[in-house]
Amino acid sequence: MTIIPVALGERSYDVRIEGGLLARAGELLAPIAGKRAMTIVADANVAPHLATLGRSLEAAGIAHHDVVLPAGEGSKSWATLERLTDRLLELGTERGDHVVALGGGVIGDLVGFATAILKRGCGFVQIPTTLLSQVDSSVGGKTGINARAGKNLIGAFHQPRLVLIDPDVLDTLPARQVRAGYAEVVKYGLIDDADFFAWCEANGAALLAGDRDARTHAIAHSVAAKARIVGEDEFETTGRRALLNLGHTFGHALEAEAGFSDRLLHGEAVAAGCALAFGFSAATGLCPREDSERVAAHWRASGLPDGLAAAGIDAPAAKLVEHMRHDKKMAAGTLPFLLARGIGQTYLDRTVDLGKVEAFLAESR
Ligand code: GLY
Repeated sequence: MTIIPVALGERSYDVRIEGGLLARAGELLAPIAGKRAMTIVADANVAPHLATLGRSLEAAGIAHHDVVLPAGEGSKSWATLERLTDRLLELGTERGDHVVALGGGVIGDLVGFATAILKRGCGFVQIPTTLLSQVDSSVGGKTGINARAGKNLIGAFHQPRLVLIDPDVLDTLPARQVRAGYAEVVKYGLIDDADFFAWCEANGAALLAGDRDARTHAIAHSVAAKARIVGEDEFETTGRRALLNLGHTFGHALEAEAGFSDRLLHGEAVAAGCALAFGFSAATGLCPREDSERVAAHWRASGLPDGLAAAGIDAPAAKLVEHMRHDKKMAAGTLPFLLARGIGQTYLDRTVDLGKVEAFLAESR
């Protein structure tokens, strides 16, 4: 088993990664549950995993309640949050209890936020079941729901007590979802690890085809990178954690244009957004053209969009920039952009002229 510590003082926890872990989760959860029943919150898509986890808890002598919520982004809402917190209260959840979030980013974010506010804070455990949530959202304690004005606008930092990752659950994940999660894996190479990007170029096809060693290596490497960055800047105050938003400012505009729908998954928007961030960096002379072409080529080789056309976005550049102006990262009239001096050399720039971005997007169309 690979164990990656997330070092956050009294909020520290481990991420444990191993194929088949779901069926053995009970042993690892027993010390956390004590003599209390655990509540597992899952979405309707992960019913088989819920059954496996339930059996494993029973084998470890842990009673459990199961709460199944509708799958999809719509569950990150006030209505579902209210339903969930009411149910957790009905079940007698106490401050010292730990609720288990079994599912993708939606369930992790929702359960994380529900437990952040329930009785002013109780515990939770993340068992992520998508590649995207395994390599990004389950680690680092960002939790929340969506508001009418935008995604993830209501939330809290609330760290889980433990994260259990079973790469074998990806066997049943649709290929498109695996590809979308893979974009967040490659992102770690683009941020500050050129060797890992080269590893992705060499091994990405095997990973996407289901190679277990490649998958486990990529998850462990990504989680270690995320743990390091979150350990340096838990509350995103120094700019270090903001590096994890590479591709997200351009990507956010594309997702907004696609109506935050299945037309463009978040990971697909991140891939296209990274290609645009590198393309913009190359166009402004910051980054060698070969590096931005290498990024785009890897997305094409991985079946991910390498720009606006491949993402199915044909909106005028001005409209995309307008979406950016509504990005939640906008502060004091400027939008922080993650730009690159090369692969593995990303940095935060708060002085980017949106007029230049618009001209670049118009050219890219
Ligand atoms: N997903 C970006 C972060 O956790 O900061």
